[in-house]
Amino acid sequence: MEKKNLFIYTFGCQMNVHDSEKIAALMENSGYASVDDVGKADLIIINTCSIRERAAQKVYSQLGRLKKFKKRNPKLIIGVGGCLAQQWGSKFIERVPYLDLVFGTHNIHNLPDLITTIENTGLTAVRTDFQEAVKSLGILAPTENGKVTSYITIMQGCNNFCSYCVVPHLRGKEESRSLSDIVKEVAVLAGRGIKEVTLLGQNVNSYGKTIGNGHDFADLLYEIGSIGGIERIRFTTSHPKDLSDRLVRCFSEVDKLCEHIHLPVQTGSDRVLEMMNRCYTRADYFDRVHKLRAICPDISITSDIIVGFPGETDRDFQATIDMMGKIRFDNLFSFKYSERDGTAAAKLGDKVSECVKSDRLKIVQALQEKHTLERNEAMVGNMEEILVEEISKNSKEDVTGRTRTNKIVNFRGSHELISKTVSVLITDAYQHSLRGRLLNVN
Ligand code: SAH
Ligand code: SF4
Ligand code: F3S
Repeated sequence: MEKKNLFIYTFGCQMNVHDSEKIAALMENSGYASVDDVGKADLIIINTCSIRERAAQKVYSQLGRLKKFKKRNPKLIIGVGGCLAQQWGSKFIERVPYLDLVFGTHNIHNLPDLITTIENTGLTAVRTDFQEAVKSLGILAPTENGKVTSYITIMQGCNNFCSYCVVPHLRGKEESRSLSDIVKEVAVLAGRGIKEVTLLGQNVNSYGKTIGNGHDFADLLYEIGSIGGIERIRFTTSHPKDLSDRLVRCFSEVDKLCEHIHLPVQTGSDRVLEMMNRCYTRADYFDRVHKLRAICPDISITSDIIVGFPGETDRDFQATIDMMGKIRFDNLFSFKYSERDGTAAAKLGDKVSECVKSDRLKIVQALQEKHTLERNEAMVGNMEEILVEEISKNSKEDVTGRTRTNKIVNFRGSHELISKTVSVLITDAYQHSLRGRLLNVN
């Protein structure tokens, strides 16, 4: 039977990127083939995000652009999945009448059946129920030819309820996968030539709590650290409140664990941290950073910051700037606070004006640019271990890989280097990458 064509748009976090890979895998088993040209698609899936208002707006604009395809080809099926789909459910179809399908964050595994029903009946379908055992977590996406890195979801959902955040409302309760399932999956990936795995979860540090058999995230790191073929382990995201001393020690004891941690701080003000329900203080955060740097001096620390949370004063904001100056993050994602329906913070008064939020964001971004460049420049002259991932997007004569500290490095080299671990001398530093010279292939 001739294959039908699938095109997926992905918005949001790495979790969504990986979910899209799973969606593609499922649909490829049900008679679809992924294509690069949306104009040729029989099925378009938009994997959505709702973390901030702007993320949601981007989804609506994309949907607007797809209307013409539906007019041209009435048989085209357009579906939305992910967090905004979970949030809106059937109301999404009222808002966007040419949608055929809405499926939630726990319903990825239902997709082939939903699509078959739509194909057979021509009716719309909505499925957004939260399910006890999250079946979609075990879907193994095929590995693209030549790929050396892979994501693996180790848990889903979140129980933290930071007051600004929609994720617990849209991804459900925290649920960890069993250690043996994860280890098996990583071994399969290693067999396919994957060298680096990134363990995904909203709060990976609390891995295992829902299983209750005593295994925690550090145990998982030790286990994965012993799987042959895997050279590098990364994880994201960590919550500072759950960063145990045992986990910090993993950075020196698990050789394959890369020296990078994304540790969102959100704000440097204790008052705001409390209103955000983050469950740690500024001093706790400094303490974690000191411990990480004591055990691993070159560790790269990246973070997230929100400016303009309700009630954030100039003094609170200065505490954030002061913290940035003291820590000097390697990189930072910074956001203007965005009010989300259903969250605790949406009920708070004393909102900060858009104008003040924009000013504060500019200050944070300018300072971080300086720090990022400084941290990158400090690497010039180092010999770094690079896992080569691909031919550079900017020059066919260069290859691209990353340092263990997660910095992108470009250097002269050709196709044969892909998937090899090499030593590179860092020669130049820029805002978003480093440049180097190949010394030897390890
Ligand atoms: N689970 C991860 C983060 C998920 S969302 C964690 O806790 O670290 C990624 C980032 O988006 C958050 O760290 C936060 O900085 C930002 N964010 C979340 N909700 C937001 C909101 N309502 N407004 C602005 N930024 C927000
Ligand atoms: Fe959102 Fe907080 Fe959970 Fe992260 S830990 S997903 S910010 S509620
Ligand atoms: Fe967005 Fe959902 Fe991820 S809201 S950031 S896609 S968990």
